[in-house]
Amino acid sequence: MTRFPEGFLWGGATAANQFEGGWDQGGRGMAVADCTTYKSKTDPKNYAAQHAITSKDIEEAMASKDTRKYPKRHGIEFYSHYKEDIALFGEMGFKVLRMSIQWSRIFPTGLEEKPNEEGLQFYENVLKELKKYNIEPLITLHHYEEPLYLANHYDGWYKREVIDLFLKFVKVCYQRYGKYCKYWLTFNEIDSAFRHPWTTMGLCEDRYPAEKFEEIIYQSLHHQFVASALATKMLKEMVPGAMMGCMVTKTLRYPENCNPANMILALKENRKNMYYSDVQSRGEYPSHILKEWERKGYDIRMERGDIEILKQYPVDFISFSYYNTSVTAVKEDGKEIVGGNLVQGIKNPYIPTSEWGWQIDPTGLYYSLIDLWDRYQKPLFIVENGIGARDTVEADGSIHDPYRVDYFKSHINAIGNALDDGIPVMGYTPWGCIDMVSMSTSQMSKRYGFIYVDLDDEGNGTYSRSKKDSFEWYKNVIATNGEGL
Ligand code: BG6
Repeated sequence: MTRFPEGFLWGGATAANQFEGGWDQGGRGMAVADCTTYKSKTDPKNYAAQHAITSKDIEEAMASKDTRKYPKRHGIEFYSHYKEDIALFGEMGFKVLRMSIQWSRIFPTGLEEKPNEEGLQFYENVLKELKKYNIEPLITLHHYEEPLYLANHYDGWYKREVIDLFLKFVKVCYQRYGKYCKYWLTFNEIDSAFRHPWTTMGLCEDRYPAEKFEEIIYQSLHHQFVASALATKMLKEMVPGAMMGCMVTKTLRYPENCNPANMILALKENRKNMYYSDVQSRGEYPSHILKEWERKGYDIRMERGDIEILKQYPVDFISFSYYNTSVTAVKEDGKEIVGGNLVQGIKNPYIPTSEWGWQIDPTGLYYSLIDLWDRYQKPLFIVENGIGARDTVEADGSIHDPYRVDYFKSHINAIGNALDDGIPVMGYTPWGCIDMVSMSTSQMSKRYGFIYVDLDDEGNGTYSRSKKDSFEWYKNVIATNGEGL
């Protein structure tokens, strides 16, 4: 008996802001991620530096047409390569492709009354192409893709009006794409609000009083939660049979040891990580968050009906990204800290660490699946997982990436273990199934894909695609429904 159920959704994950390109084509407006620069000199483990952005940076970005300095503007030009890329996904046997819709391609500033037809047509072409290969789309409605205009003139998600502007976009997506798409996600890694508020919610830190900034994030998050619940409501009304998921980063923390103080610290940090899915799945704020606001004197404004909307329209499934785990302790002094763009913590001596400081921990995935299932009792979907690594192209053009195969093998095994426990896992979409620009550093050299894209950190290259060894390996995994590891 195969461990993976019939219909398990094998595939890959992408996001428009990092792979689509065509930033100045088809009537697209500028978006927040178009302002993030290539961080050549950043220490790969320096989390804060990877995400730092000032209002001066944004002004400079708006005045610049440079795509080398701002690599997310070109991504890997899926915009002009989509047929070729989807053919490769089809060849691997993908059952699902996770992709996002760039809001500013449909509503360039977010304020227009009418959607941009050229943008709408582009995604329709993509969806039709996917259909040819029987690949189900899994649509993320918001993956670090707020129109820049809204970030600059509406304080990102801080202004409540953005909820309606977002729902206008969502409605158009359902109208036009509902017939092609069964699976939807509202906000990618909604918890990254605190890690990189600019890309997640259009908030640039130096525009606000430092002492108010955390409260502003909580307020903006409330608006995203309400928008997510209303988008779920609208999905139920407009696309019968479709399913909505939340999307969170599973940043599992282990206590450094059995010191009770460390145990409590890890417990609280993990509980905080799950507050987002608590709101989106249980439909209510957990008491520890309400108490935190009370302690800190925060006044999070809610309108009449908000609490009811959250309660009435929870998500149908829990999706999450999983890359690594970290270790926490009340006393960190003198200990080696590792992390990357997600969460930093003390180095775990029992597991290896990638070049970018991410600790590789398949058992943590098994742990996370148990944890989420026990908490929510809803189907789970791993919509991001993978290892960013440098790949070498040999003289004959081949690319040997056994490290990637090893990573996936161990993580897919972990999913198998969860399935053996009876945990319903809907599918698995490894991140960056085709190489694309890194979210945190805008590097190309941090590659995740089964498909190599000829492009370097400085924007040099032909954009040609080639298969890495892991391509054939994953193809076989899918063909054998997880048996051919
Ligand atoms: C997740 C994001 O946090 O991690 C993706 O949803 C991102 O957008 C991925 O690309 C990997 O991070 P990075 O910084 O290595 O690209």
